[in-house]
Amino acid sequence: MNHLLSVLALIILITPTHASTPQVYWHAMLPNAPMPRAILDLISFDELDKDKFNVDLRYEVDALRYNGQLYVEDQVHDAPNATLFFFEKDLNPGSKFDLQFTKMTSGSPLISRSQANTIPFSSNKLLEILTHFQVKPMSITAYAMNKTLVECEMPALDGESKLCATSLESMVEFSMMNLGTRDLQASSTMVKKKSGDVKVKKTYSVAPDGVRVLDKDELVVVCHSEQYPYTVFYCHTTGKGKSKAYTIALEGNDGTKVEAIAVCHLDTSKWNPKHLAFQILKVKRGRVPICHFMPEDNVTWTIKK
Ligand SMILES: *[C@@H]1O[C@H](CO)[C@@H](O)[C@H](O)[C@H]1NC(C)=O
Ligand SMILES: *[C@@H]1O[C@H](CO)[C@@H](O)[C@H](O)[C@H]1NC(C)=O
Ligand SMILES: *[C@@H]1O[C@H](CO)[C@@H](O)[C@H](O)[C@H]1NC(C)=O
Repeated sequence: MNHLLSVLALIILITPTHASTPQVYWHAMLPNAPMPRAILDLISFDELDKDKFNVDLRYEVDALRYNGQLYVEDQVHDAPNATLFFFEKDLNPGSKFDLQFTKMTSGSPLISRSQANTIPFSSNKLLEILTHFQVKPMSITAYAMNKTLVECEMPALDGESKLCATSLESMVEFSMMNLGTRDLQASSTMVKKKSGDVKVKKTYSVAPDGVRVLDKDELVVVCHSEQYPYTVFYCHTTGKGKSKAYTIALEGNDGTKVEAIAVCHLDTSKWNPKHLAFQILKVKRGRVPICHFMPEDNVTWTIKK
């Protein structure tokens, strides 16, 4: 606990007090960590653009449908071709994976913490929030926003710690508190050389010397952005000794090069026994590490080695 308090004290000490750009904030908090692609992409949306958010959501109708059983069935059906889950022992130079990288950019801007603090963020304030963003109550946009709020309010799973961060500042602090240090790195899957469409499924091989462990102490925080008019990061961690992050150099059969992040779960004994991973890999829950690649918009936080 003392350690946590000292990390907190350090965070408070160095947090820039004046309103600053995300770049200035990042540089002050994480001087030795490059900003990952997933966050750089978000910074390019520099103001709240309600119309853009609404337009993007229209294309997300299908994505919403995917939250039901249908998605699971589609995935199982696709499973023989797409490597959704794999065993850690199969992660070696030369290993082949059929992958399709998807990017669900929300098209929403990052706002500062002081701005975020002026807008309620709670499902029982939904009407007020909808009014603030001029969103019609019965629209698909309203549905998506409610879904995000409800998900954010669900308690963390046993042994998990989670936060819906409504600003870059709260995401960085959550990661520092949970990793117990300021010396962090943030990584996201990055397409390095585009030869074909990364959204098309293709066979990737792991490059020679292409596998590198990212984290120390088997401790990882993962954040991904949610559907919302401004960027909301859903961040969670399962604590020490529970997961491991890798960066993997992949080469597609068409020359596409991807620096992919994969996370391996070392203990799945508390997962739902019907989890898709068990259906695909034909194992029961337990201590066989099960891994998956991260999409381009997830941010993986680890302690700098
Ligand atoms: C999987 O691959 C096989 C052979 O390449 C192909 O015939 C089949 O349509 C593919 N299935 C899916 C769901 O993509
Ligand atoms: C928000 O979602 C929850 C959970 O699905 C639902 O019970 C609730 O009625 C929704 N609220 C509105 C205003 O749609
Ligand atoms: C990665 O991001 C997607 C949304 O793009 C999300 O559905 C998924 O749960 C995230 N993965 C992890 C491990 O957080």
